[in-house]
Amino acid sequence: MSTTQTFSIASIPADGVGKEVVSAGRRVLDALAGSSNGKFAFDWTEFPWGSEYYAKTGLMMDPKGLEALKDFDAIYFGAVGWENVPDHVSLWGLRLNITQNFDQWANIRPVKFLPGVQSPLRKADTVELDWVVVRENSEGEYAGLGGRNLSGRGPGNEVALQTALFTEKGCERIMRFAFDLARTRTVKKVSSVTKSNAQQYGMVLWDEVFNRVALDYPDVRTESVLVDAMSAKFILKPEDLSVVVASNLNADILSDLGSALAGSLGLAASANLNPERRFPSMFEPVHGSAPDIAGKGISNPIGAIASAALMLDHFGLHEEARKVEAAIEAATGSGHLTRDVGGDANTEDVTEAIIKALTLAQATV
Ligand SMILES: NC(=O)c1ccc[n+]([C@@H]2O[C@H](COP(=O)([O-])OP(=O)(O)OC[C@H]3O[C@@H](n4cnc5c(N)ncnc54)[C@H](O)[C@@H]3O)[C@@H](O)[C@H]2O)c1
Repeated sequence: MSTTQTFSIASIPADGVGKEVVSAGRRVLDALAGSSNGKFAFDWTEFPWGSEYYAKTGLMMDPKGLEALKDFDAIYFGAVGWENVPDHVSLWGLRLNITQNFDQWANIRPVKFLPGVQSPLRKADTVELDWVVVRENSEGEYAGLGGRNLSGRGPGNEVALQTALFTEKGCERIMRFAFDLARTRTVKKVSSVTKSNAQQYGMVLWDEVFNRVALDYPDVRTESVLVDAMSAKFILKPEDLSVVVASNLNADILSDLGSALAGSLGLAASANLNPERRFPSMFEPVHGSAPDIAGKGISNPIGAIASAALMLDHFGLHEEARKVEAAIEAATGSGHLTRDVGGDANTEDVTEAIIKALTLAQATV
């Protein structure tokens, strides 16, 4: 008799479209589990944290929230940010509180071009494009170091320091992660994003570690590209990319550019990984709470659903992850597109189309 493997997942929809897309992703995962013949199941616990919680409590999450999260198998996150809370308070109070304290130091953000979705890049019509941004997720420009002072000297005199942190260990672990990932891909290449011409301390250390780590991976091709040139390369020569490793801020910007090139920010998935598995990892779409479209039921659920596929990979359910990705492709390929990618379908239509494609595929196995 086979036993069901149950994965416990903390869901944090948080704000705006985060609520809509997390609900869509949960439905897809539950449909997948429902047709797994009892092989696996998901046990969901939802946490009400976010900007509404802040309005009631003055906090973005329960002060004992990290304790409550630490034994889950994974966290499924929506997006944070609303007009009642300054963005730096909401981000640091919830999302960065989790990524930093759970040492989720590797953030992977695949750039995927989907059938039926028109890219603003003409090259995408004829060339197969597929790359992944690996973001250092624990230090760099988002280390949270610095301060503000001297406002007592009167108007116009305040100073602010925002210090970037680059540790040799932090650089080395993300670079090894990127090289290991490159070894699993058809094109074995890592592009390091730097700015060592201007940032002569942190980024020079970054380059030195990259060159040293590369020696251990003679089978993987490398290049080191300045971030300004890399943003041009994303547009002019994206076929040259496979794994792109970058610091926290640089990767944050480049991955938005990547998802825009694929057609929309609403398509992009991400995984915040604690590769040692000392803490749960967190899966979330790249996009924010999109206040301009929130509550209308028209947000694109694909970024969140593709993030759920990354969560399945994390659970070792690789075949199932590929099935979810194939179902996304079947849905977009058959014209189920939300407005951000040129269609007129709503969140519900696209989610249903993905579930339908998934259950059809399961039934024909
Ligand atoms: N990971 C996160 O939680 C995260 C990331 C980025 C921004 N934010 C926060 O989100 C808020 C809004 O920020 P922003 O406007 O700069 O970025 P955003 O990603 O929310 O929106 C940028 C644009 O993309 C569109 N968009 C985003 N997600 C979409 C989806 N699923 N379907 C269709 N269109 C989508 C929006 O309508 C908007 O036009 C801010 O409070 C910001 O701090 C949070």
